[in-house]
Amino acid sequence: RKILVLHGPNLNLLGLREPQHYGRDTLDDINQRLRTQASDAGFELDVLQSNAEHLLIDRIHACLTDGTAFVIINPAAFTHTSVAIRDALAGVKVPFIEVHLSNVHAREPFRHHSYFSDLAVGVICGLGADGYALALAHAIKRMSLPA
Ligand code: DQA
Repeated sequence: RKILVLHGPNLNLLGLREPQHYGRDTLDDINQRLRTQASDAGFELDVLQSNAEHLLIDRIHACLTDGTAFVIINPAAFTHTSVAIRDALAGVKVPFIEVHLSNVHAREPFRHHSYFSDLAVGVICGLGADGYALALAHAIKRMSLPA
């Protein structure tokens, strides 16, 4: 009953960084709301933000042994570059939802391709911080279904 939220590079700057794309909420604001949402539903929530690809990969590998049943990930710029994080998710076979604050399809062409979307349960983009809450609501619903 454990859900993991992973935030990729530069998301530690949320609130300061390009608010026209990413909104005014800080990462702490977002994480606090997600923690409350998860605990209200009786789920454990783990969160990691990292600017380092290998730390995100190591955290995904840990899902094999730490009871994580679902991942919500905003890979940030690694969305468009990281075969390695994609392979980690495929390797541990953990179901995941891909989230982006901004509508990546309305931005530069290099943001239109994701190394994650074809493996994801689903993808949410363009809804700002609400995307994380919607992804978490879906994860909770799925994990509450009888196996
Ligand atoms: C992002 C979109 C990416 O293209 C970008 O590199 C980010 C954030 C988003 O949440 O909208 O860092 O994943």
